[in-house]
Amino acid sequence: MKFDSLPGATPIDPDEAAGLIPSHLTLQKELNEFEEANILEGVQWLNKQRRGDPLDVDFILRVHHRMFGQTWRWAGKLRLTDKNIGVPHYEIRPRLRLMLDDVTAQIRHQSYGPTELAARYHHRLVSIHVFPNGNGRHARLMADLLLIKLAGRRFDWGRDSLLTPTETRAHYIASLRSADAGDYAPLLAFLK
Ligand SMILES: Nc1ncnc2c1ncn2[C@@H]1O[C@H](COP(=O)(O)OP(=O)(O)O)[C@@H](O)[C@H]1O
Ligand SMILES: [Mg+2]
Repeated sequence: MKFDSLPGATPIDPDEAAGLIPSHLTLQKELNEFEEANILEGVQWLNKQRRGDPLDVDFILRVHHRMFGQTWRWAGKLRLTDKNIGVPHYEIRPRLRLMLDDVTAQIRHQSYGPTELAARYHHRLVSIHVFPNGNGRHARLMADLLLIKLAGRRFDWGRDSLLTPTETRAHYIASLRSADAGDYAPLLAFLK
């Protein structure tokens, strides 16, 4: 199996590649489809959950495991190597704790409206880059869960796949880069 690498995506390193569960895949496209089926099952599981708090670390990990657990042995587990995106791996847990405490306080004080709260949560979660891969898809679903909890609706991430090099993806990645620099306006515009 040879993996494509896209700008703004996490390259798979050899250790992590060894964690691939299905052995019959040879093309990136086949992997994408396999993951998609796995994610669908994860979402079905999620829809049946009565509780499930997007501000709870264990739940955050459990959702990733449900989305990718049939595909990758390391699904739902914290990243053990450093990546081109994300904090050093040993900082993941403390940074996640800090982020969740911040967002909890922001919700309590209504520092922002629901959309901006969930958009900021999305950006901070994906910036930490908790997992070896699947961070974008996972953090988008988690942000949807938070927005559903806060406002009873989900985000519109656009019709195009955010996994392939479309114009939509380029806008999305550029808006995250602006958020890296502290400017959330482009991300909020993307999510409009
Ligand atoms: N500059 C950036 N700052 C924060 N997040 C980023 C940045 N660039 C990319 N990302 C996020 O990282 C994701 C890619 O990480 P990856 O683990 O490969 O997720 P996936 O496999 O679901 O695409 C993108 O979808 C995006 O959400
Ligand atoms: Mg990826």
